[in-house]
Amino acid sequence: MDIRSTYGEKGRKKQVALFVGATSGLGLEAMKKWIFLLGEEGGKIYFVGRNKEVGEEIIEDFRRHHAHVPVTFIHSPDLSLLSESARVADIVASKESHLNLIVLSQGELDLSDAPTLTPEGLDRKLSLNVYSRYLIARRLIPLLLKSYEYEQSTEVNRRAMAFSPPRVISIFSPGFEGPINEDDLSLSKPENYSMKQCIIQSAAMNSLMMEQLSNMYPGLGWIHVYPGIVRTNITRNMPEWIKTTAPVVGLFVAEKAAEVKEGIAYLATRKRAGLQLVDWHGMSWDSRDGESHGNLWDVGLGKYLGTGGKWWREGLAEKIWQHQEEVEKRVLGEQ
Ligand SMILES: NC(=O)c1ccc[n+]([C@@H]2O[C@H](COP(=O)([O-])OP(=O)(O)OC[C@H]3O[C@@H](n4cnc5c(N)ncnc54)[C@H](OP(=O)(O)O)[C@@H]3O)[C@@H](O)[C@H]2O)c1
Repeated sequence: MDIRSTYGEKGRKKQVALFVGATSGLGLEAMKKWIFLLGEEGGKIYFVGRNKEVGEEIIEDFRRHHAHVPVTFIHSPDLSLLSESARVADIVASKESHLNLIVLSQGELDLSDAPTLTPEGLDRKLSLNVYSRYLIARRLIPLLLKSYEYEQSTEVNRRAMAFSPPRVISIFSPGFEGPINEDDLSLSKPENYSMKQCIIQSAAMNSLMMEQLSNMYPGLGWIHVYPGIVRTNITRNMPEWIKTTAPVVGLFVAEKAAEVKEGIAYLATRKRAGLQLVDWHGMSWDSRDGESHGNLWDVGLGKYLGTGGKWWREGLAEKIWQHQEEVEKRVLGEQ
């Protein structure tokens, strides 16, 4: 795959990147690839995770192999809390004036058909999949805009046409959106909640938040990416029989994390602004037209989840944006 990085060029400000949910799985793989891409030019990396020991091991490893890149681990015991997500974003904002890349991959998969409420009164999965992610992205927009202004104003970029828009990448599931419950966007009533509804609603809310952000800030990159089925720690909360059979099934259907990380790196570096609802190759998985996507396995999974169909309408992105604002205000007060 052609990874077109612009990050080796002379005379550019150092790239600053933030990876959230990067102590394992796709976030970790994407971060490892990113630090490699930074090369001699260097840059700065922040990453967030709940596992302190693993976070420190990662730092050690990076220090050994990429000593010239300052890497900071922000320990966060539970990002499903909006107060925690806000704290993390505020730490980054207090230390940096600009930011080039945010990769959001915090998430858990469990099969429960009932909501699990956080102390803030939100469903844990929906919070990790959506609210935590867009709270962090929204708070850090001023830093992304700083990079945008800088990139635009730099002669070296204009001459080399090397402009690479600052961007946010959310690793979840475009193509798996389904009709959302517009009367209960938080799925707060148990009768509206199911594992399937939570997944298709989370996928739709991710795509819609990215759509709204791309309308508001078209010069930045807003990417919701489906990684395929990848063997990671995502099955950790599943029943034993699934954990045991998953690696066997994975032998046949799973994408390799090592390959997927190349795709995420491509999306993180390609010179394209605006909305992208894509798979990890960068191919469109924009299902706002009701088309289904993917190979046989994916289509089967999509059918099982009840995705596709008419889930999108004009004005829905704005509605989800307002909902995110209301939830943040309700939980955190005016900040
Ligand atoms: N893997 C797939 O096949 C696949 C397919 C489609 C979509 N996705 C989505 O892609 C995203 C990343 O998945 P992955 O496969 O990389 O899974 P993963 O290996 O489990 O990584 C998830 C990351 O989120 C962190 N995390 C989970 N709950 C957290 C919490 N409450 N507070 C703070 N951090 C938390 C985990 O921390 P720990 O390291 O401490 O556990 C881990 O670093 C998920 O949203 C998943 O739904 C995955």
